[in-house]
Amino acid sequence: MSRDDYPTDQPAVVTCGLPYANGDLHIGHLRTYVSGDVLARSLRTLGQRTAFVSGSDMHGTPVAVNAEREGVTPEEFALEWHEKYEATFPEFGVEFDNYGHTHDETNAELTREFVREWIEGDHVYEKEIQVAWDPEVDQPLPDRFVEGTCPYCGAKARGDECDEGCQRHLEPGEIENPTSTITGNPAEYRSREHEFLRLSDFQEYLKGFLGRLEGTDNARNQPREWIEGELQDLCITRDMDWGIDYPGEGKEDLVLYVWVDAPIEYVSSTKQYSERVGSDEFDWEAAWREGAPGPGEPMDETPADAGEIVHIIGRDIIQHHTVFWPAMLRAAGYNEPRAVMASGFVNLRGKAFSTSRNRAIWADDYLEEGFEPDLLRYYLVTTGGFQQDIDFSWGRFQERVNGELVGNFGNFVYRSLLFAYRNFEGTPEADPSEEVLEEIDQAMEAFRAGLNDYSLREASQAGIVLSRFGNEYIQRHEPWKLVEEEPERAARVIRDCVQLAKAAAVLLSPVLPNSCERLWEQLGEEGSVHDAPLAACLEDPSGAFGEPEALFEKIEDDRVEELDEKLEERVQAASAAADDTAESEQEESEDEDAPEGLEPLSDERIGFEEFQELDVRIGEVLTAEGIDDADELARLEVDLGVETRQIVAGIKRLHDLDALPGTRVVILANLEPATLFGVESNGMLLAAGEDADLLTTLGDSEPGTKVR
Ligand code: MSP
Ligand code: ZN
Repeated sequence: MSRDDYPTDQPAVVTCGLPYANGDLHIGHLRTYVSGDVLARSLRTLGQRTAFVSGSDMHGTPVAVNAEREGVTPEEFALEWHEKYEATFPEFGVEFDNYGHTHDETNAELTREFVREWIEGDHVYEKEIQVAWDPEVDQPLPDRFVEGTCPYCGAKARGDECDEGCQRHLEPGEIENPTSTITGNPAEYRSREHEFLRLSDFQEYLKGFLGRLEGTDNARNQPREWIEGELQDLCITRDMDWGIDYPGEGKEDLVLYVWVDAPIEYVSSTKQYSERVGSDEFDWEAAWREGAPGPGEPMDETPADAGEIVHIIGRDIIQHHTVFWPAMLRAAGYNEPRAVMASGFVNLRGKAFSTSRNRAIWADDYLEEGFEPDLLRYYLVTTGGFQQDIDFSWGRFQERVNGELVGNFGNFVYRSLLFAYRNFEGTPEADPSEEVLEEIDQAMEAFRAGLNDYSLREASQAGIVLSRFGNEYIQRHEPWKLVEEEPERAARVIRDCVQLAKAAAVLLSPVLPNSCERLWEQLGEEGSVHDAPLAACLEDPSGAFGEPEALFEKIEDDRVEELDEKLEERVQAASAAADDTAESEQEESEDEDAPEGLEPLSDERIGFEEFQELDVRIGEVLTAEGIDDADELARLEVDLGVETRQIVAGIKRLHDLDALPGTRVVILANLEPATLFGVESNGMLLAAGEDADLLTTLGDSEPGTKVR
């Protein structure tokens, strides 16, 4: 890597993929925003001057479609969501320095400037293309107004992206077998004139760029394949009213494609930040332009004084950020991103969230449950590798909170501070031990190294490792025994613990901003932990402090059961609704019933012994009845030969319960019991697919027969 390690002398800009102002935020979106926030805070702790910016993505067809459905203008519709997001982010501790939107004047103006630069540099040309057209309503069908088949991988595709298949961007007219989402009719093609950005001008540049790009491997590797063959040019205009007008002459009926003005908001938002705080504090041009060769000129290496631009996104928008966006920047004479960090998705029970089917954990749900933001932040940042998809579960959430936050970090600081308070009314007078200073030094190094590797998990673990050490240190020295006999040694041990707690507060403050701020106050430290530099880890603790309070509360099992029940209900309802809503589906979710939507066979093999651990038996349904308060759940009594079991299954709506008694079914008998709506389920009824097609036997194996 040719660039200097963080912190550098150049200003950094951390951005997050802009949320479409189009519906509620879920915790999948929050993976992008929490990660961005943790990175920005961590860089500041390291001493890097950093602007953390984003904004709402107001344009595009989904916004236009949904606004029309609600009978409001797209602007009103998008602004309402924008305001909602602005209020939601701080509730998760996500604190942007500037949060704008793509429809504001700063962005409209800057976007037109970019496009004018491209035109002047001769990177834009006009071409007549065939666009999808709905003959019945006699209008063009841009992007999400058309559905069909991806020409690259054959998956079902919507509009401008193959979101269920190869994730490629699709150009107007590329989608095969197009149908109109307005009328459901097969679409026709008509000729229209559109404007194109000649991406092929930047093919060589992009190859070099990808070689320099830092961040996650997926962001470097995935686009390589896309830029190998001849790069397809990007159609930058659309036949729509909603958007930023194309600045060229005589083109009043065209607006810019949403993916033109959306990333430019990264720059506009930084500019707004500079204008607010003054360019002495943060100079947007120093970050985005300084040192860059002129528009369209080659750039073979990073200019020495270029800003450190880091984009945090989900893996679905890698192509936009590693191919289109760098070409757009170069064509206008701007600096290139230093890094792109593309996270995996957050899924539910192995499948993508679905907004229209209410199959998601919404940001609001989480807050309504009364959990504090830090817990989710910790879960999102430390569960699985950054590039991996993660499957949200309340059980895993509980595990991380109880194990690491309550049991390790919370426990360590509470017992240390309590002991210090009771025996010394704060930090005891003593010198810190070499062993502890050394341990803290290593943790600081791990934090720095984690960040320079773009691993938020590693950086965040530094503080956790330290508190694990602290717990072990207390255990080893048993200060409660020393207080009477060797008060000086007790003082030293506790002084060490207070130092460790202070260092952990600094190191964990990016991921746990609220809890660490509370800890900072409990420690009697001045100011905010968020202004403390990394070096504060080794500075003397402040001195006196009062009685501490526990930082985290344990999440009890019955709470998790209750949350799981609610979630199970929602998942069941979502799959039951899948068939009814398939037609009105307008958004980015997976389509579970399409054959292309089948999950690939698992690569992970299990041994025969593991299989044998499953006690799968033939059963016979004796009774089946709906559970009163539950929409989806039924209570079954099943004869398993050796005993009769009560089993709860999500089949209330999907099967005629009265017809079930006498049916042979297949039961996983040794699944842990669970209580759903107050009814204990003691085994699992096996069924296939969204319709819960029940498995049965071809011959007449008796109840209790083992399946092997
Ligand atoms: N508006 C575009 C981005 C424009 S950036 C110039 C967009 N919006 S989005 O609302 O669909 O997504 C916002 C962010 O959330 C993106 O980084 C996206 O990758 C991320 N995610 C959306 N759903 C997600 C999951 N289920 N899981 C993880 N990240 C997800 O894309
Ligand atoms: Zn595809």
